[in-house]
Amino acid sequence: MSTKMIDVIGGARPNFIKLAALFAVRKKFPRLRLRFIHTGQHYDFSMSDIFIKQLDLPQPAHHLNVGSGSHAVQTAEIMKRYEEWIQRDRADMCMVVGDVNSTIACALTAAKAGIQVAHVEAGLRSFDRSMPEEINRLLTDSISDHLFATEPAGVKNLKKEGHGAGQVHLVGNVMVDTLFRLRPKAKRLCAYKKFGVAPHQYAYLTLHRPSNVDDPKHLGQILKHLIQTARQIPIIFPVHPRTQKCLKTAGLHQLLKHCKGLKLTAPLGYLESLSLMIESKFVVTDSGGIQEETTALKVPCLTLRQNTERPITIERGTNTLIKGNWDLFHKRVDDILHERNAKKIKGIPYWDGKSAERILSIISRHMH
Ligand code: UD1
Repeated sequence: MSTKMIDVIGGARPNFIKLAALFAVRKKFPRLRLRFIHTGQHYDFSMSDIFIKQLDLPQPAHHLNVGSGSHAVQTAEIMKRYEEWIQRDRADMCMVVGDVNSTIACALTAAKAGIQVAHVEAGLRSFDRSMPEEINRLLTDSISDHLFATEPAGVKNLKKEGHGAGQVHLVGNVMVDTLFRLRPKAKRLCAYKKFGVAPHQYAYLTLHRPSNVDDPKHLGQILKHLIQTARQIPIIFPVHPRTQKCLKTAGLHQLLKHCKGLKLTAPLGYLESLSLMIESKFVVTDSGGIQEETTALKVPCLTLRQNTERPITIERGTNTLIKGNWDLFHKRVDDILHERNAKKIKGIPYWDGKSAERILSIISRHMH
């Protein structure tokens, strides 16, 4: 049987964490040649290079260097440059992960060129089309040949949308594969020491969704509540570039300067971030991946969103969806601080560190 070339697409920070799981096991599948294509959607050292290094990813086989732009510009530019690449050096399959602009851009380009598309993390739905990621998820799944779901809800959504059973595979979560692989290394870092706090005596915060940060009034409201919480427990807050820009535009930096409990820092590497999550009392976030990572780590998570495309983190994990209900938020914080009403964790099928192996083994069987 001949070897098969697979372009594995990574563009934004969460993509690299998922790809790393696939590259970590690729040697077990010598017939599949994985080639890392970096779109350049995220380009700062702190958003890209440090991840490639810490996750033991190979250097990209090709870099599209697209950079920032509006959704249409960024998506179009990735498509244009990825098409040029496949015209020069065609792969047998294009594998995309997650739901960012790079995901739909490369999937669409490959599908039109007659290249098979595999989507890792397929079927997740927030049912909220005001999220750019929801549009990316719907479109990517509709043109993918192989759909790899992380949780049963994903399989259900895909079947409802008409995908055949042979196309859809429940394989678990590659992000959790990477987390299990690098947890010991992250734990040894004790990243909390740099912030002058003790283990389990601080909270960890990430915030970057357009619906939370783009509107200055809404962002100000969120910060007001977080400042209140920071009086009870220090909060470590690595600031995403989008949020950094919004804080500046909204003139909110002053407000944060005077709050001693809120410890702002530049975006962190994967290991530092994981280290801080492991030792935190709880996490506050609007990220998709962190809802899953906290569930895998059994750390309580308060999600500042109206909905989640990852319902299993609520049903069986540690996640609570806040939906703009700040009374609920403060009550959950009090519960956690006083160790009341802890959420019980049930195991999640296939979140066992072996998802990437399942994916490559299915692909290997399908590609003759
Ligand atoms: C993107 C993804 C989102 C994911 C997030 C993780 C889409 C639609 N969104 O959102 O799903 O959760 O990444 O971080 O694909 N910027 C920098 N340096 C960088 C990267 C970005 O300064 O290295 C700036 C850009 O100029 C832009 C802003 O940050 O103004 C947002 O970047 P962008 O990639 O458009 O979207 P994210 O908000 O990061």
